[in-house]
Amino acid sequence: MDVFVIEGGRKLAGTLRINGSKNAALPLLAASLLTDEPVTLRDVPDLSDIRNMERLLGELGVEIESHNEEENALSTTRLRVVDQSEFHARYDIVRTMRASICVLGPILAKRGQVRVSMPGGCAIGQRPVDLHLRGLEALGAIITLEGGDIVAKSPHSGRLIGDTVFLGGPFGSTVLGTANVMSAATLAQGTTIIECAACEPEIVDLANMLIAMGAQITGAGSPRIIIEGVETLGGVDHVVIPDRIEAGTFMCAAAITNSTLTLTNCPLDAMMSATDRLEAIGVHVDPTNQRSTLDPLRQTCTISTSGKLKPVQITTQPHPGFPTDLQAQFMALLCLADGNSVVTEKIFPERFLHVAELTRMGSSIHKHGTTAVISGVKQLTGAPVMASDLRASAGLVLAALASQGTTVINRVYHIDRGYERLEDRLASVGASIRRMNEKETTPIGFMTE
Ligand code: EPU
Repeated sequence: MDVFVIEGGRKLAGTLRINGSKNAALPLLAASLLTDEPVTLRDVPDLSDIRNMERLLGELGVEIESHNEEENALSTTRLRVVDQSEFHARYDIVRTMRASICVLGPILAKRGQVRVSMPGGCAIGQRPVDLHLRGLEALGAIITLEGGDIVAKSPHSGRLIGDTVFLGGPFGSTVLGTANVMSAATLAQGTTIIECAACEPEIVDLANMLIAMGAQITGAGSPRIIIEGVETLGGVDHVVIPDRIEAGTFMCAAAITNSTLTLTNCPLDAMMSATDRLEAIGVHVDPTNQRSTLDPLRQTCTISTSGKLKPVQITTQPHPGFPTDLQAQFMALLCLADGNSVVTEKIFPERFLHVAELTRMGSSIHKHGTTAVISGVKQLTGAPVMASDLRASAGLVLAALASQGTTVINRVYHIDRGYERLEDRLASVGASIRRMNEKETTPIGFMTE
């Protein structure tokens, strides 16, 4: 198993390009199941979650070819359904990646039936899929649970039937549930109205691609999405939006090391809650272009600090509120703020696994239920720590960049799920970070389970 070895205390300087978004790309890849024509996706990041989704699509009859056509050109992923006979997403793959649930709506809508292994919980909580199922049932699907699999069939094995679907749950809407129901409704008979739809930019990107394929969708990005079903969808050539969570992580990297970094291809307009909190902390995010003349989702900006980090309050919320996927990274930053900060998690109440590891690095964090009070300290210290989930691990990398001494982060496969070559990119702007094999790091050592 690989580890990261990070020597803290280096300043960063230079430019990083923000890659295509993992959470946009996963449902976009799954949407290729909705058409018999070729789908081309550009700027799909090279991540283990993406490779797992491609493996799953391969098993479901999709031929996939990925390559970089020229140096510095966007990567290209070409997908084409060549066999529609398979409709079972097996446990072997689903258990490696919860986002496999993205294929549920597209296969049901196109092939009339689907069997997807029920995803289990994960490090950040229980993560039910009841809203996905409720949404598809509202479109007429008959759903049963058989041997741990969700089995769904269209009424009379024909098309789904449009209806009004309410996707609100105890924590607001559901992002992938909205993606599933919206994708399925594109091929349903009649009109579907999704109330309490997720408003995340990744949903807007999916809607834009589906519209380019011939779907009739209005309202994506608002809590009410209206879909007029069509009989077939065509092929498309689509560029994935940049990753707002990767951008927020690099912004925190500049801030925690008191450095100046430039980010290109940065989706600033999708990041207002994060940049608002950064400004409150004392971190400046300055777009370097005329915003109005450029694509607002692909900006260049410079991140700089004015020295002292100020404490703030943060509450995670559905978009456009503060994203839960940046909670751990901001908590790492607030460990070094001058005073007490309060972070409340409202999307995944158990998403605090980074707290114990940050504490091992010298931070002072007190958790009460879904709220953590972070009392800023002057200095963090390097330590051997354990990555537990993707974003928690990113928080540990940030803390390590600012720590005195060496940090060894174990289980970096969590990071590889969502950040492409993170170590090379941070090293390119001056960080001291190396990927090593666990066995090579005996001087520091680990606690085993
Ligand atoms: N929920 C239900 N029932 C459902 C679905 C969700 O109660 O049927 C609850 C969840 O338990 C959670 C809340 O609703 O409390 C929101 O969950 P949501 O369904 O929106 O999450 P998701 O769609 O499974 C996506 C991202 C996550 C991100 C969340 C929230 C992808 C592949 N995953 O998950 O990303 O945290 O939205 O924004 O898009 C990550 O990238 O690290 C990550 C975990």
